[in-house]
Amino acid sequence: MSDMTKQTKATINVGDVTTDMAVVHGSVGPSVIDIRKLYGETGMFTYDPGFTSTASCESKITYIDGDEGVLLYRGYPIEQLAEKSDFMETCYLLLNGELPDAGQKTQFVKDITYHTMVHEQISFLYRGFRRDAHPMAVMVGVVGALSAFYHDSTDIQDPHQRMIASYRMIAKMPTIAAMAYKYSIGQPFLYPLNELGYSANFLRMTFGVPCEEYKVDPVIARAFDRILILHADHEQNASTSTVRLAGSSGANPFACIAAGIACLWGPAHGGANEAALNMLTEIGTVDRIPEYVRKAKDKNDPFRLMGFGHRVYKNYDPRAKVMQQTCHEVLDLLGKRNEPLLQVAMELEKIALHDEYFIEKKLYPNVDFYSGIILKALGFPTDMFTVIFSLARTVGWIAQWQEMIADPLQKIGRPRQLYTGYGPRDYIDISKR
Ligand code: SDX
Repeated sequence: MSDMTKQTKATINVGDVTTDMAVVHGSVGPSVIDIRKLYGETGMFTYDPGFTSTASCESKITYIDGDEGVLLYRGYPIEQLAEKSDFMETCYLLLNGELPDAGQKTQFVKDITYHTMVHEQISFLYRGFRRDAHPMAVMVGVVGALSAFYHDSTDIQDPHQRMIASYRMIAKMPTIAAMAYKYSIGQPFLYPLNELGYSANFLRMTFGVPCEEYKVDPVIARAFDRILILHADHEQNASTSTVRLAGSSGANPFACIAAGIACLWGPAHGGANEAALNMLTEIGTVDRIPEYVRKAKDKNDPFRLMGFGHRVYKNYDPRAKVMQQTCHEVLDLLGKRNEPLLQVAMELEKIALHDEYFIEKKLYPNVDFYSGIILKALGFPTDMFTVIFSLARTVGWIAQWQEMIADPLQKIGRPRQLYTGYGPRDYIDISKR
């Protein structure tokens, strides 16, 4: 693509109408053509289902370069944050734009820790669900209901209430998620412990029982914390765009996050980690991989290799590389190095990365490919994988929601359409149909 950095305007000629539009350059990445006056001057809309060529907003939070396999949170490469930071510090960075100093970090961790308990009435909400309900259905319901309990932090025009609601969401997601798991297996809920870190607290609430002390393995907690860092934000993906669109109407943050959880659940998005593990389980053994690669390449077969491909990454997803390393660490620690699923995953990755079809379509393993194997090795059931993705992504959704609400130019999101239905026609009485 030629160097467009010097461009300052784009011209569209429609019939005898010529419209000049500003070209706006970001700090890094593609520039944009500001088409806001296009309809007013030409009477025409742009058309971009799936938004493959559309920037929906300006943002300073996360930058992705799909060709170079780059992911930056507020400018910091994901590889460095995964190696040197922790999830609480990453949350502070995404929310505030800078890494905290020691005092800021201590205060932030304390503020989040002291919001981890949920209103006691919320525990009764779970009883309305069947025990075998998918935990993502429970998450959508319980998170959506939070505004019924915390209406003192739903006035989005009040920056203090926005901050409290944000902290409450980040702090309570692990508790709500762990309660969804406990409810599904018929075990009692555990309360969070303020002496534990964010990830350790979640692991204890998930795997601990009231009958005995639960010791969290620090290596496992660190590995889990890294998984949360990798999933924390990802520019304007489908669920983040859902949160922004819901928030643009002035809906309260709890309802917006519930909408994001609902969107993330889809197998083309955050549900892919559950689908990828189910796929690896279905393949079962290395010798069956060619059959599934054939199915994935067959245009008449709807089967896709779950955990492969990405709208933006047309090179390796940088998160997948870190996830693969973490996968090997966790499986080695747990003595599951020869986990059959890992063997199938590594062989599938090798075959796919050398297959003409996948090379031509630039289909690489994405963040969901390895995460399922790690989470299964840590003891989570498959239907909890996307719940954990939603737990991690809540800070990204909140940071993007905050950025949108604070934007003085923010308007309600209201796309238009290309209408191809009937033009006006008269009603026909049923006796004449
Ligand atoms: C996430 O957006 C984000 O940032 C999302 C995410 C985040 O952090 O928020 O990164 C998280 O959602 C990761 C993606 C998880 N999804 C999966 O792993 C599901 C499997 N992947 C595909 O469904 C697909 O790759 C998508 C949905 C991820 C991306 O789809 P696109 O960009 O719309 O691409 P496409 O569907 O138009 O596919 C392009 C071509 C097609 O072939 P043609 O019609 O051009 O002949 O590639 C083929 C597709 O058939 N293709 C695949 C494939 N993915 C795309 N073929 C086989 N297996 C696959 N996985």
